Amino acid sequence: MGSFIVEGRNSLEGIVDIGGSKNAALPILASTVITGREYIIENIPDIEDVKDMLEILSSMGCSVQFENDIALIDTRGLNTHIVPEKLVRKIRSSIILMGAVLQRTGKVEVAYPGGCEIGLRPIDLHLKGLRKLGVEITEKNGLLIGSVNEPASCDIHLDYPSVGATENIMLFAVGNTGKTTIYNPAREPEITDLQNFLNICGFCVTGAGTGIITIEGKRIENTDTVEYKIISDRIEAGTYLSAAASMKSKIYIRNIEKSHFKSITSIYEDAGCEIRETHGTIVIANNKRIKAIEKITTQPYPGFPTDMQAQVMASMTVADGISIIEETVFDSRLKHVPELQKMGANITTIGRVAVVEGVEKLFSAEVEAKDLRGGAALVIAALGAEGTSKINNIHHIKRGYEKFIYKLQNLGVIITETAR
Ligand code: EPZ
Repeated sequence: MGSFIVEGRNSLEGIVDIGGSKNAALPILASTVITGREYIIENIPDIEDVKDMLEILSSMGCSVQFENDIALIDTRGLNTHIVPEKLVRKIRSSIILMGAVLQRTGKVEVAYPGGCEIGLRPIDLHLKGLRKLGVEITEKNGLLIGSVNEPASCDIHLDYPSVGATENIMLFAVGNTGKTTIYNPAREPEITDLQNFLNICGFCVTGAGTGIITIEGKRIENTDTVEYKIISDRIEAGTYLSAAASMKSKIYIRNIEKSHFKSITSIYEDAGCEIRETHGTIVIANNKRIKAIEKITTQPYPGFPTDMQAQVMASMTVADGISIIEETVFDSRLKHVPELQKMGANITTIGRVAVVEGVEKLFSAEVEAKDLRGGAALVIAALGAEGTSKINNIHHIKRGYEKFIYKLQNLGVIITETAR
């Protein structure tokens, strides 16, 4: 499991280079299955979720090499439609392999991904969309078994702009003759990155980032090697922004597209931080205690992202005033609250709303990471706390943060890792 030992400090200074986006990498890696060919994909983050996805591809017969943030994948060797159950249990987002495997082989068998630390995580919208596109799906003994009878193209209206459902529908529809239109799709930048990748592969997808995605299905004849570089991780960048805002700091956040995380930078500008951009580098300077933010509500993109809720809460625990933070996307994404309270945070929760009354300073404690972003929030809290904190179960954090210790040490943080 492992733990971080973090010495509290009063300031952060230095440069942090942002890696590739976890939530762009995973669907793009899954989509390499659609057409058997070679892919060279750059800026892939070296994190556990990516390694698990690559292990799935390898276990299904693809050849996979991964080093220096470059993945070299050859999916011509895919030899099964069965996604290995033990790996699906490790990474629930492997459910987005459904659409790609169905498009490639006409069938799929994948374990029903259960809930996770942040909620029930239903996949009804995935299944409804795929069924509309001509896929017959049965559920037996916890397995989803899909087969393509008559591949169809049609209009699909998503009841909720689900990221995963949008991706699964895109990955299946791209190869079906005819036009598929997705209304109310997810608009996250990672969806646009997936669209751009699919188009580089020769498919025809338009509208990502808007309320209507149009897919002109086609068979791919050209199977030359595809080269692509994925976008950087806006949530990783936002995490360092939250760390900088929670104490006196001046940090340079490099390799990031500012337009991807405007909703995060605007919160910290309102809180009193000085944030400016120069050539793909965000500079955040903060020399005083930040002001509380009256109300923050998580929403689908371009609203304030649920993946930043815990990190922003950590910074607001030492803000001047009362912040109200409402989690509307997931049903169980406040597990970091009791851990922050152990560090002296003054937080009251009512359902999915947290009322955070800022205190001058937190104090160190031994706390438990319960999920990926909540774990990152505990590190942020520990950075500014009085004394040395211990954060346990850091496997959660390693799922999504590349070189986390190294990047924090580069900002002057004294942080070490212990085996337990
Ligand atoms: C993606 O998860 C991200 N994961 C999540 O990031 C992110 O929090 C989430 O999108 C929202 O932005 C990856 O991209 C790998 P959803 P996903 O489908 O696709 C409900 C992180 O920390 N829903 O948009 O699972 C669902 O229960 C991770 O990096 C249905 O009801 O998110 C949830 O309440 C965590 N039926 C809401 O929609 C469905 O069929 C959002 O889910 C699908 C979803």
